[in-house]
Amino acid sequence: MTRTDPADVPFPNAQLHFGVFFQGVNHWTIWSDPSSGSQIDPESYRRVARAAERGLFDAFFLGEGLRLREVDGRIHDLDVAGRPDAITQLAALAAQTDRIGLVSTSNTTFNEPADLARRLSGLDLLSGGRAGWNVVTTDNAWTGANFRRGGYLDHADRYRRAERFLTVARAIWDGWSDDAVAGGTDAPYWSAPGSVARVREHGGQFDVDLAPTLPRSVQGHPVIFQAGDSAEGRDFAARNADVIFSAHGTEFDDALAFATDIRNRLRAAGRPADDLRILPGTEMIIGATEEDAREKARWVRFAQVTPATALNVAGLLWNIDLSDRDADGPLPAEDPVIVENTGAFGARRIADPRAVVAEWRAKAEANGWSLRETVIALGPQRGHVGTPSGLADKFARFARHGAVDGFNITPYLIPDGLDDIVDLLVPELQERGLYRTAYTGGTLREHLGLRPPLTHRHGAGRRAG
Ligand SMILES: Cc1cc2nc3c(=O)[nH]c(=O)nc-3n(C[C@H](O)[C@H](O)[C@H](O)COP(=O)(O)O)c2cc1C
Repeated sequence: MTRTDPADVPFPNAQLHFGVFFQGVNHWTIWSDPSSGSQIDPESYRRVARAAERGLFDAFFLGEGLRLREVDGRIHDLDVAGRPDAITQLAALAAQTDRIGLVSTSNTTFNEPADLARRLSGLDLLSGGRAGWNVVTTDNAWTGANFRRGGYLDHADRYRRAERFLTVARAIWDGWSDDAVAGGTDAPYWSAPGSVARVREHGGQFDVDLAPTLPRSVQGHPVIFQAGDSAEGRDFAARNADVIFSAHGTEFDDALAFATDIRNRLRAAGRPADDLRILPGTEMIIGATEEDAREKARWVRFAQVTPATALNVAGLLWNIDLSDRDADGPLPAEDPVIVENTGAFGARRIADPRAVVAEWRAKAEANGWSLRETVIALGPQRGHVGTPSGLADKFARFARHGAVDGFNITPYLIPDGLDDIVDLLVPELQERGLYRTAYTGGTLREHLGLRPPLTHRHGAGRRAG
């Protein structure tokens, strides 16, 4: 690939922002390699966060799964499991890092705003303005079975609740005026009378009446991330988010189409098109030569999709327990069983299993693939494979055409999976003027180059002192 001439592109000064997504539940993190560390040892989190900070990343990011996944009542034990509460985990990391942002995925369906907003502002304050909140609505009834209300809401209600939830959270974060706390020991009050506003919200889904317990952090509010790909999710992001964690970062055309759609929605919501950063989740596999990188990717895929994982993934497509089959043998001869989506497991929601199985059969036959090879070739495709300079050129094109603002990187090895990226890719990006050479700010909002929180613009919402 030839280098992009910055003069010919719509965003010649684009900068890439990197986050690291430490995954908790997945089969993409290889746990079976001799270099693999524990998924639940705090030392693993610390090492990944410190590597990311060495690489001048914007953020360390955690997803949320409130329950171990199950299929037909059995724990889905191929997932790499073990997930402490994200805010607790990030609070520990706040003490072990200096600059990197700390982003918690926390859902609005099963939490309550008074509690979650307070915990997030605690993280924001304790970390010196480095907190982010990835707002999700969580797409399964099976998580809701853990909660008092039996917790599932339909899609539209989940987004309605999310919108109101965020409004209440922002009111809580704005409860203290800027001069609420005594400026010195000679002030007559520690907290001036009338400087803390009550937040009241009754009716609808919430019952809130409180005086917030904390002042704002130096970044104003935690940075709002959003992950959810439906039209409602995208509009919610356009109205509310600072960052979108998307699934559109592998193919250039798909990434650009997504970014264009989001920019249109932002304008429709009355916001400038550059008001939001788009960071797709992605994997990066780096080799010294293109051939090395391809060879490494092959190793990574076979380590990720073990025989047992292949049978499990195929079992979810066929809706048949295939655990006693041979993953290195042919595809199951049976037709898939069509079951109603119970909401019990996301992977069950394959829209037309018959069509997918027919495609898998045709391609497996044409290429002589085993079941495992078919799962690897035709299962979800992830990420970018190449040399440091090849990937830097590729990402320059993505960034300078406005297809992405960076990536939320999922390392396939814990805890050392970021080293190639930090040591080999980052310098190539820096050489192309695409990546910072030092942190210039202290807060997550500053790292991302964001404007003040939405409710603080034009004097709206923020209480005068
Ligand atoms: C890239 C991405 C990451 C997500 N991560 C999580 C997560 O960690 N925890 C969770 O409960 N939901 C997660 N979700 C799903 C969200 O709960 C999302 O709100 C849900 O899919 C419903 O929204 P949608 O219909 O707009 O996609 C994620 C979604 C996307 C697109």
